[in-house]
Amino acid sequence: MIVIGGSSSEALASGVAKELGTKAGALEIRRFPDGEKYLRILSDVKGQNVAVIQSIHHTPDELLFEYLLLTDALKDLGAKKVTAFIPYFAYARQDERFKGGEALSFKTVSKLIESVGTDEIYTIDMHQHRVLRSSEVFRIPSHNLSAMPLLADYVKKNGKLENPLVIGPDAEAEQWAKLAAERLHSDYDVFEKKRLGDAHVEVRPRKSNANGRDVLIVDDIISTGGTIVEAVKILQSQGARHIQVACTHPILAPGALEKINETGVVGVFGTDTVPSTISVVTVAPLIAEYAKKTAG
Ligand code: R5P
Repeated sequence: MIVIGGSSSEALASGVAKELGTKAGALEIRRFPDGEKYLRILSDVKGQNVAVIQSIHHTPDELLFEYLLLTDALKDLGAKKVTAFIPYFAYARQDERFKGGEALSFKTVSKLIESVGTDEIYTIDMHQHRVLRSSEVFRIPSHNLSAMPLLADYVKKNGKLENPLVIGPDAEAEQWAKLAAERLHSDYDVFEKKRLGDAHVEVRPRKSNANGRDVLIVDDIISTGGTIVEAVKILQSQGARHIQVACTHPILAPGALEKINETGVVGVFGTDTVPSTISVVTVAPLIAEYAKKTAG
């Protein structure tokens, strides 16, 4: 099995290769003077199972195109099987037509990924709010893994939680709150969220009371930070003791982290699906575990 990372996930690919006791395959990627992309695979991939790791962030269109060039070339060069590991899958949020005439981006991106010969795909905590299973979109075998157990383990290892409570800031976060709570042997609840604009949300509590408890807020994405800030305000008004925030994909729009830190939370962290200053948990062992399985 050869592990190859695209330009968004080179470090992660090296981590996965290390877990598998090998070295990541090499690529040469540069731009022609007119801005077009040049990609060359420097490893011999003929007859090999290849795991391609490429998060589609921070420049989603470019990184998606790079994935298409890479996988098409791998198949053309005789790779036996290409398994895509797309830790952060961009465009999953545009999974329906909210306003007449909108592009169904999720569907288009999925079709493109299949069209170059991807044999199987793994994502991590993909935004699945209305589409509940990736098999509703992909025709190739697809799997959505979760980094929540790894994030919860990090919390456990790095500080004692007194009377812990896990909170998901909206109904969709219940899947992640449940996983983290199982790991922390705690209870969990979710808030109700209404999106008022790209950067504005309204969050309301449901039944839990965080008074005197250490709280871990979990979500798939932190983008503008608006969701987390509103959730923190509720927990503080209930009298929560220490509040920590964990997310799988720290997309972090400008100012997001500062906004969250100003609330006085004791920690904000995420994984390296999207490399950032708070990416302290690596998903390399998770990807390596499934890369091994997929190679058969
Ligand atoms: C959407 O519902 C997601 O699960 C996240 O809650 C959302 O993307 C966070 O966005 P923001 O940080 O901009 O509030």
